[in-house]
This record gives sequence, structure tokens and C-alpha cells, in this order.
Amino acid sequence: MNTLYYGDCLEIMEEMPSRGIDLIYLDPPFNSDRQYNSIYKDETGRPLPEQIEAFCDQWTLDEERERAIRNMPILMREAGIEDEIADFWRIWVNALRATQPRLLAYLSYMVQRLLIMRTLLSDTGSIYLHCDSTASHYLKIMMDGIFGHNNFRREIVWSNEDSSGFKSRADNWIRGHDTLLYYSRGSNPIFNKQYSPLDEKTIKRYDKVDDEGKRYKIYRNEDGSERRSYLKEDRGVGLRTVWTDVPSFQKVNNTGEYLGYNTQKPLALLERIIKASSNEGDVVLDPFCGCATTIEAAHSLGRKWIGIDIAIHAIKRVAKRRLEERLHLVEGEDFEVKGIPQTLEGARDLWKRDKYQFQKWCIEQVDGFVTARKTADGGIDGRLYFDTKEKELQSMVLEVKGGRNVGIADLRALHSVMERDEAEMAGLIIIEPLGERKERNFHKMMAEAGDLEVYGKQFPRMQMLTVEEIIEGKRFETPFPQGKRDRQMALLP
Ligand SMILES: C[S@@+](CC[C@H](N)C(=O)[O-])C[C@H]1O[C@@H](n2cnc3c(N)ncnc32)[C@H](O)[C@@H]1O
Repeated sequence: MNTLYYGDCLEIMEEMPSRGIDLIYLDPPFNSDRQYNSIYKDETGRPLPEQIEAFCDQWTLDEERERAIRNMPILMREAGIEDEIADFWRIWVNALRATQPRLLAYLSYMVQRLLIMRTLLSDTGSIYLHCDSTASHYLKIMMDGIFGHNNFRREIVWSNEDSSGFKSRADNWIRGHDTLLYYSRGSNPIFNKQYSPLDEKTIKRYDKVDDEGKRYKIYRNEDGSERRSYLKEDRGVGLRTVWTDVPSFQKVNNTGEYLGYNTQKPLALLERIIKASSNEGDVVLDPFCGCATTIEAAHSLGRKWIGIDIAIHAIKRVAKRRLEERLHLVEGEDFEVKGIPQTLEGARDLWKRDKYQFQKWCIEQVDGFVTARKTADGGIDGRLYFDTKEKELQSMVLEVKGGRNVGIADLRALHSVMERDEAEMAGLIIIEPLGERKERNFHKMMAEAGDLEVYGKQFPRMQMLTVEEIIEGKRFETPFPQGKRDRQMALLP
């Protein structure tokens, strides 16, 4: 069934059967050295006071990356990559470690995933890697190695120029395009040639009409003889590799298509790729699907699809909602969402695999947001916003504590953060139960923080939930009626 996965595409693709995918489009981080954020609004249109973390495109050569780099020659050999390419990789590692360690970290991340993508593609399958000049030249060399230079088919330039905004202020040539590297799995990929519509001037040149009403023009052969050249109404000019006719959102954001997801791509771009490199009923994979642009295009064109994203808010708040609202799809009937922990074991497993993603999952489960601005000591993990009919939305600061040794000092620290940030409330999420004595002390201290009174109702200013309680459906008591909160916050286009 069509599936949206929450998780790291590396782990999810490792579990997928080989040769089952006909088309992969990936729009991964570009090594831009940026943190991407989004702005949400409540249902009255008020923006949340803080930006919400979307995804991070900053790279460091940490232990995990070093391990991936060490394993790379083994992975390459297992994937049947030529020894010369593995040797090339070794040379790069030595050169880049000293000169561009962040780029090395990024490349190792990309290569690890591209190697798996090759195993997933069917014999007639294709892959489009969307990137930009920051790393496209390095990526191309790796793609040549992984997919074979013979299977490199085209470099596409998507001219997405936008003459407004920060880009135009650069004291340099203004950046105006992205690069798409198009490779096939084998020598005979599916390719349906695409044509641009004929312009008025060309149509006018076909100034005669035959008995059947078909337009034609007279074509004079070299020897002076004449023949009819018909206008093939359904065909324009075969598309070239420079695409200037797919506007970026700065120009088309009044179509209702733009959801406000940072780095969202236009549907028209994906429709073109999907029409060209797949047929109806084929399977399209987007391993970095963001707000599900590829998925909407694939579904509308009668393809099957799989979308993966590591950001839980992208899957839960944006992609899933997009499919429900724009395509009227029903979860469970038309598509599945997988990978979001539903049990305590699942939550513990996520904690073991990825502490940061676990924190994000906890915050999302209680309808909170992972805010982009961190306190100086990194003290809070997120915020939950609620309405007290004050001018500004009010908030509860949220902190997730995973280990067994959560102590009263943690609660004290959270209390200080609540006061310092002038938040109305504070919520602590813990994985393991505290034990009876500790729990009593915690509740005593939380009670000392007093209540918040809104509309004549009291809400404890400090509250605590265990992951087990969250899984059972319990939520923090805040002024919003339960269940409504989640629906109220949407991306701000
Ligand atoms: C450039 S955005 C993709 C935007 C998308 N094309 C769209 O139109 O919305 C990159 C996405 O990759 C996701 N991402 C980053 N690392 C990932 C990983 N390891 N596995 C899956 N998704 C990842 C980010 O959360 C982000 O949504």
C-alpha cells in the first residue's frame, strides 16, 4: 500500500526489497550550512511567536560519520562498486578530512544512502538527485561510481530564479538555479519524452487547413517541390535540459499549492519528472519527502508511492494532512503511516536509536513544537502553545528526560527556565517511572509552583507525564480543549 514513513531513510530503505522501485526522486539537504525553520499559525491566523525547527543542514565529522567513512569501502565492495571508485573515495577522505571536514561528513551521509537506492531500483528504473552547486560536482563523481558513468543520462538545470529576497542582495552573480542529476539503473530506462506546448507564433505559421480541419503549412523541399507539414497539436518542442518554465513559489504562491514548508518544491517540477520516467502503476520513492510534493504528484498521475521523512512534524502535521485535505485520501484505506512509535517498546527503541528524534517525537505527541530558538543552556526541548485570550499565544515549556537518573534538580532547573522565559507553564516528560518516593517529592515541588487560572478553571503550572501515559493518550492539562489543539496549528504559507 502507498506508505508515508517517519524515520531515517537509510534505516527504512535497508528493509525494503531490492528492485521494487521504478523511480526515485530525492531532494536531500544540500550541505547549505543552514538550519531550516517554519512558521506556524493558529486557526485565527496568528503566527506562533517562535519559528519551528524544520530540519538541519549542518554537518560535523562526529563519531557516527567517522564510522560511516570507515565502513564505506566495505559497503562499496558489497554493492559491486569498482575498486577504483573505492580507491578514489580513500583519496577524497584524506584530502577532505584536512580541508573540508564538513563536506566529507555530508558526502559520507549521501553516499551511504545512494548505495542503497541503487539496489532498490528496477532494471528500467531511474533516479533524479536534486542538489545545487554547493556539492553537485562531488555528488556527480559519486553517482558515476555508484550507478556507472554509462548510466548518467542528463544534468538538468532548473532555473528557479527569484529576483526578490535575500538572494538578490548578494554582492555577486545572483544564484538562479538548482541542479538535477539524472541516472538510470540500466541501459534501457522508461522514458516518455516530454514536450513544451507550442507557442502562438509557431501555431500561426501553420496557416492552412485541410478537409479534415487539420492545420498545416507548406514546406518547400531543397529541390523546389512542396509538401504539407502538419501541426501535431499534442506535441510541442521536445524539452531540453534547461527548465525555465517551472516557476518557484515566490511567483506562484497564490495557487493554494504552497504550504509554507521550507524548501518545498513545485508540483509541476515533480509532475514532469514522474511523467517522463515512470508509467501508470509504477512505484515512485521519495526518501526525503518533506511536505509530500512528490507524493501528491505521483498519486495524481496514477503511480504507487512511498515517502520517507525523518522530521515527525513533516509527516504528521504536513504530509499526511496534505494528502487528506488536497487529495481527500483516508489513512488506513488509501495509505498507511509507518514508523511513528505506538507502543512503549517502540518509544524505547526510538530512544535507543536516536535520542534527538525521540525528544521530537515526545514533543509532537503532546501537540508541542520543537522551537528553533534554544535557551542559552539548551534547557528546553519544545513548547506547547495555548490561548488565554491574551494578545499573544501563551506557552508551556517542555523538557524530555530519557534516562533513569532524573532528579529533583532537573525539575528545579525546569522551574527556573519557566520563570526566566516568562512561560505560563512547564511540562516534564520522562521515559521511566520515578519510583514512589521520588514521585511524591516531584509532585510536592510541582504543586508548590501553583496554578494558572483561565476562564475560571485552574491548571497546574508544572506537570509531568510518563511516555507510557502519553501512549495511553494522556496529555498535559492546558487551556485548550483536548484534541482541538493539534488541529489549530497549521503552516503559515
Ligand atoms: C529539502 S527538504 C525536501 C522538500 C521536499 N522536496 C518538498 O517538496 O517538500 C529535505 C527533507 O529531508 C528530510 N530529511 C533530512 N534527513 C533525512 C533522513 N536521513 N531521512 C529522511 N528524511 C530526511 C528533512 O526533514 C526535510 O524534510
